[in-house]
Amino acid sequence: MNENPMATNHSFTGSDDTADEAVRSTCDDATICKRFAVSKKYWKDPYIQYFTKQPNESKAPEINRGYYARVMAVNLLLDAFIKKTNCNCQVINLGAGLDTMFWRLKDQNMLPIKYFEVDFPAIVMRKIHLIKTKSPLSISIIETHSSSGLLIDGCSMDSDRYAIIGQDLRDHPTLLERLKRFGLDTKLPTLLLTECVLVYMTPEQSAGLIKWPSSVFSTSMFINYEQVNMTDRFGQVMIENLQRRQCSLAGVDVCQTLETQKERFLLNGWDNANVLDMMTVYNSLPQADVHGIEQLEFLDEKELLQQLLQHYCICWATKDSEDYGIADIMFGASDFH
Ligand SMILES: C[S@@+](CC[C@H](N)C(=O)[O-])C[C@H]1O[C@@H](n2cnc3c(N)ncnc32)[C@H](O)[C@@H]1O
Repeated sequence: MNENPMATNHSFTGSDDTADEAVRSTCDDATICKRFAVSKKYWKDPYIQYFTKQPNESKAPEINRGYYARVMAVNLLLDAFIKKTNCNCQVINLGAGLDTMFWRLKDQNMLPIKYFEVDFPAIVMRKIHLIKTKSPLSISIIETHSSSGLLIDGCSMDSDRYAIIGQDLRDHPTLLERLKRFGLDTKLPTLLLTECVLVYMTPEQSAGLIKWPSSVFSTSMFINYEQVNMTDRFGQVMIENLQRRQCSLAGVDVCQTLETQKERFLLNGWDNANVLDMMTVYNSLPQADVHGIEQLEFLDEKELLQQLLQHYCICWATKDSEDYGIADIMFGASDFH
């Protein structure tokens, strides 16, 4: 979600560095909202507690349901790709923040050959510090690492199955070079994920980030979750709330419609692209589960949930030169079960 569409003001001044700092702060918003929803039992995540404290303020039911749809949608698409490739693949989570996906995949015996994360060095430093100091986090990395020493410096970590790299995503040539240095194999099927990330860079910068994987990998999928339908009144309020925190949505022009979201993949080397707004996704998730989470909290204003979910979308683009069948991945398809 816009990490908190109802967010209150933070006071920042306006330099580039301050703008990047405001973008980095969205990482905490996402983690806090996810932790709150987990504490309400929307889904299970035994690791998120190590990345942020339980928030003092509660989050509205529509925010929790929105995060539920976001996390389920990303997991379903990502798991379908991993299953199609029998785990013989790589995952690159771009702008991963304090995401706990690595631990979930390990616990579910679904780890790809290597799982990479990239974020600004300041975020990566915090994440590595938390991993080093919380044994429930570090143990999973040690268990999946064969040699004696892990490579850890201030803003990167490398192990056999998990690498975390501190790097500005807008510098694509350096990003690819560093991923290769951390063991990226350009011959393996590779999934890239951006969850609420592209909207913080200009359309030119995000186009560059989308384009290189389509030329580097012969089998690849790109999942992007972010805002859509931003030209209406509700969208404008979301933009204004972030601007008040000096956090500008530099990429908002691509978030106009489902078509603009899909088009940018087709214009940047991808063979196939699908996009759904999150209301449609919510209605396509396994309905017994949806019914279950709807019992957790009373939602007075169903229209607000609908409006919120219509302003986010998930887009997934594929390139499948080796016929793994990844272009067939759809919500509700049998791969999801
Ligand atoms: C809204 S948070 C989402 C975090 C995570 N993907 C999630 O959904 O929980 C956006 C993340 O993207 C990162 N990010 C945005 N622009 C970036 C850039 N140019 N380089 C590196 N990281 C970036 C931020 O630091 C932040 O961690």
